[in-house]
Amino acid sequence: MTQRVPLIAGNWKMHKTGTQAVEAAERLDGLIKEAAGVEVMIAPVHTALYQVSRALKGSAIAVGAQNLHWEQQGAFTGEISAEMIVDAGCSHVIVGHSERRQFFGETDDSVNRKILAAKKAGLVPVFCIGETETQREARETFSVLDKQMQDGLKSFAFEKPSDLVVAYEPVWAIGTGKTATRDQAQEAHQFIRSLLEKLFGKLTADGIRILYGGSVKPDNVEALMEMPDVDGALVGGASLDPETFGKLVLFNQ
Ligand code: PGA
Repeated sequence: MTQRVPLIAGNWKMHKTGTQAVEAAERLDGLIKEAAGVEVMIAPVHTALYQVSRALKGSAIAVGAQNLHWEQQGAFTGEISAEMIVDAGCSHVIVGHSERRQFFGETDDSVNRKILAAKKAGLVPVFCIGETETQREARETFSVLDKQMQDGLKSFAFEKPSDLVVAYEPVWAIGTGKTATRDQAQEAHQFIRSLLEKLFGKLTADGIRILYGGSVKPDNVEALMEMPDVDGALVGGASLDPETFGKLVLFNQ
């Protein structure tokens, strides 16, 4: 089986000004200097991206945006493009987060356009999928994931498995303190990998990292990471404090 380097990603959502983001990023960088065999990404708000990327120059921490528009430029008030995100020093972008789907009308179709635009500009999309509590209770988890994957990845052309990161985030576990059990996470991740295999072949599917997201904390990360198809975490609340996030990054040391 392909060795997948774990990725611990922090989604800072609408928290921290530029100054606060730089302070936290530098503190985190200092705390995880010794981290080996793990990759780290943080996603501050748009207005902090350039400052944080500049502050982290030479550091191993990657910077990502939390959203993008699929057009390169134009009359789209309030939006920013993949090229602008690259220009701000980013290598990654979160796409299709459930908060964007829930509150900002994101659809599988807009997610697909964003993923293709990100790839074209050389960004790695961190593609979020996941079912709501009602869908889980109605035993629709697999069909929801299947549709989100098929629609979201339409026309995506891999050059290498690291072109994409998938994040499984059950909506009922985000910011609620309810983590999926590691067996629930593994079951979903295994299913997602089987879909990736159907769409892109085994070699690519084996190399793609699938992150778990939803109330990941220092005291549950290790158990989740022991599961064979869990390749990292997308962390919201617990990524805001550098000490706590540092512990997550150093989960195996
Ligand atoms: P949480 O958020 O860790 O606060 O549950 C995860 C996410 O929204 O990516």
